[in-house]
Amino acid sequence: MTFDYFMYKGIRFTVQFHSEEILRFIENEFHVLDDDIYNVTYHKSGTHWMGEILNLIKHRGDPTECNTVPVLRRTAWYEANTSISNVENLESPRIITSHVPLHIFTKTAFQSKAKVIYTMRNPKDIFVSLIYFNRMLKCYKETKFQDFLEDFLHGNVLYGSWFDHVKGWMQMAGNENFFYITYEELKQDLRGSVMRICKFLGKELNDEEIDSVVKHSSFDAMKENKMSNGILFPEELLDNTKGSLIRKGICGDWKNHFTVAQSEFFDQVYQEKMKDVNVKFPWEESEK
Ligand code: A3P
Repeated sequence: MTFDYFMYKGIRFTVQFHSEEILRFIENEFHVLDDDIYNVTYHKSGTHWMGEILNLIKHRGDPTECNTVPVLRRTAWYEANTSISNVENLESPRIITSHVPLHIFTKTAFQSKAKVIYTMRNPKDIFVSLIYFNRMLKCYKETKFQDFLEDFLHGNVLYGSWFDHVKGWMQMAGNENFFYITYEELKQDLRGSVMRICKFLGKELNDEEIDSVVKHSSFDAMKENKMSNGILFPEELLDNTKGSLIRKGICGDWKNHFTVAQSEFFDQVYQEKMKDVNVKFPWEESEK
């Protein structure tokens, strides 16, 4: 079996995970609740990490649920067509995960009081993380690094262009119910990041509770915890012996995989595509 792709509103999806019917439903009919929290990312940007943080904040640092219920059951992936889309069963406030670009996201979300947290990451590290993750997918046919790089930069991949995803979502910056953060900031200062997220959510945790959120969402804790690490794709889609979703968890792993020429090619496309974006991202500094 190989991945079968289809296009929806200019974005590439795969029938193994998605259907046009569900995408249309989440865009137009999904019922948003005022206390919903949306964990939005371009995949491989730290989705599971943010999901874990949000779940721990919801439970004031108590790890009981995160040690017993798989992460994607606690934070439903709402556009997926597999059994993991269990949004209806989530306990309020619902934490809902999504990778869709803004133009496919539920239209009514920003008319409600629901909150959206958008996590971004160095796209070079996303690219590397994606290569390793794809190797775990039974129906994925690996292509040459350079070919996949070109597909990634042109948006010919699942969820489309990283550049368009980021530029689309960043139009929401300044909206009081939208908060953005980067993987790199989480890595640099997890405690400070957790405090900022709590502030955005209007959730006051004491020092001990914040320490517990930090402890249980650390890379080592999540790697050890099968409920964070073991993901929920059906066995016919994913081979867990081929790798681990919680893999290396560092910034700059791309340096171990890109040649100088590939990195320069990436930077050229990046500069062109991001020239109108006014935000300074942490990876832009570290790459100079
Ligand atoms: P790597 O493959 O670079 O290690 P997503 O959840 O969006 O699919 O992203 C997966 C990436 O997030 C993986 O990156 C994974 O290791 C990393 N990750 C998950 N939990 C993490 C944590 N607690 N700390 C740091 N990185 C984490």
